[in-house]
Amino acid sequence: AAHHRLVLVRHGESTWNQENRFCGWFDAELSARGREEAERGAAAIRAAGLAFDVCYTSVLKRAIRTLWLILDGTDQMWVPVVRTWRLNERHYGGLTGLDKAQTAAQHGEEQVKVWRRSFDVPPPPMDEKHPFHQVISKDRRYAGLQPGELPTCESLKDTIARALPFWNEHIAPQIKAGKRVLIAAHGNSLRGIVKHLEGMSDAAIMELNLPTGIPIVYELDAALKPVKPMQFLGDEETVRKAMEAVAAQGKVKK
Ligand code: 3PG
Repeated sequence: AAHHRLVLVRHGESTWNQENRFCGWFDAELSARGREEAERGAAAIRAAGLAFDVCYTSVLKRAIRTLWLILDGTDQMWVPVVRTWRLNERHYGGLTGLDKAQTAAQHGEEQVKVWRRSFDVPPPPMDEKHPFHQVISKDRRYAGLQPGELPTCESLKDTIARALPFWNEHIAPQIKAGKRVLIAAHGNSLRGIVKHLEGMSDAAIMELNLPTGIPIVYELDAALKPVKPMQFLGDEETVRKAMEAVAAQGKVKK
């Protein structure tokens, strides 16, 4: 039987999703369409009658603003919110800022799929000459990280390694204590949580693409194991197209 319900949402489309650029830790804003997606996500949560006791998000504004729009649209702006770098998008290293389709044209679609979706192959690191190195690595929001915690690039495995301690120490205990939790985060930090929850193999996670702005509902047993597959608060056709569009970002533009 289901004991707990957990809601996950990937931020709405960002301006860099719209421009098809690798974003990672760059703090891109939601696009106009991304705001609409978040508002639709809020309406779906309201229609489903879901209430929250505590919310978690990253330190990146596309996820934070998505959470704000959902809390506003469901009249729950008073609910406590915890922000942590551990829920950030995976750090895209040297690929940050590059066009995904142009990168595929240059390095091949297979290589781009490996960089985007393999479990443990990281993208090339971001060196100090990278155009976005200063703006990301020197930002004061990361000043409290311990030596070695600030990444220069991350595989999904690396992303899970820094997200999971936060899940285990902060989020899981709240869910087990009966709190209704909403997590507004990113494509790859959420893929990490999904992989952990479902016990997915390293191969199976390669094929999972999460759509932007469509809330995902999990029903969990007392041990936080899903009792059925994730459910999207969106119609099947919209969800399928949104997932395919994410996968297609790494194809060469014809
Ligand atoms: C990004 O950081 O570019 C995206 O939000 C996630 O990218 P991906 O779907 O290419 O991994």
